[in-house]
Amino acid sequence: MNKATRKAIIAGNWKMNKTRPEAKALLEELKGMVADIKTVEIVACVPFTNLETALAATEGTNIKIGAENCHFEKSGAFTGEISADMLAEMGVEYVVLGHSERRQYFAETDETVNKRTKAALAAGLKPIVCVGELLWERECGITEEVIARQIKLDFFGIEAADLKKCVIAYEPVWAIGTGKTATADQAEEVCAFIRATLAKLYGADVAETITIQYGGSMNAANAAELVSKTNVDGGLIGGASLKAADFTTIIKAAEVG
Ligand code: PGA
Repeated sequence: MNKATRKAIIAGNWKMNKTRPEAKALLEELKGMVADIKTVEIVACVPFTNLETALAATEGTNIKIGAENCHFEKSGAFTGEISADMLAEMGVEYVVLGHSERRQYFAETDETVNKRTKAALAAGLKPIVCVGELLWERECGITEEVIARQIKLDFFGIEAADLKKCVIAYEPVWAIGTGKTATADQAEEVCAFIRATLAKLYGADVAETITIQYGGSMNAANAAELVSKTNVDGGLIGGASLKAADFTTIIKAAEVG
């Protein structure tokens, strides 16, 4: 199996952006632009407050909706949190987990990412699990150690059948929101390493089926080169997903890629 047989997924990560009217306007614009796209899975991961609006705006279209996080418990005294079941019940399909901003600003650890991934899978959601090294970790030459550790911990106890429902996003932390994109070769190197790590844990056949995205300052200008790489099966897009035309260009690049 190779890239051509894996699903290319381009997911927007809106982060803490867009009110409901703004979300509706962006999705209305986007859906017209991408209506004829068939070979790329298009996902918009939006703030919790926009989920209902986004689901309504994209009903019957080729745009899938995701959330940006979920809690690992089913319910209970966790003020301000949202469970995986709450998302699934709404019709949400994807959820971003372990984003570096969650790890950095909200003290998330590989242990909680692992628990969230299990909770999301149990609820029938498709997790987009983010991994990536800090700049100083890259500079110290331990990128592969960091990534292997994250993969092993974040997917600990997850069976192959469930892993196949997951997407992995390689997001070097130094490239997120900084305008500093990893080169296509750097992205390919780590995405290939992630696949090799999965092959050791789950076997090559399973590893070959997993969609591995690149994320970090991916934009309309650099997307084509990134997604042309053998092990880069799409992207998780922050800033550039907030503009319908730019996001569409990235999606079209993945169609060819
Ligand atoms: P960026 O964000 O594209 O704005 O760098 C990517 C992400 O955080 O997923």
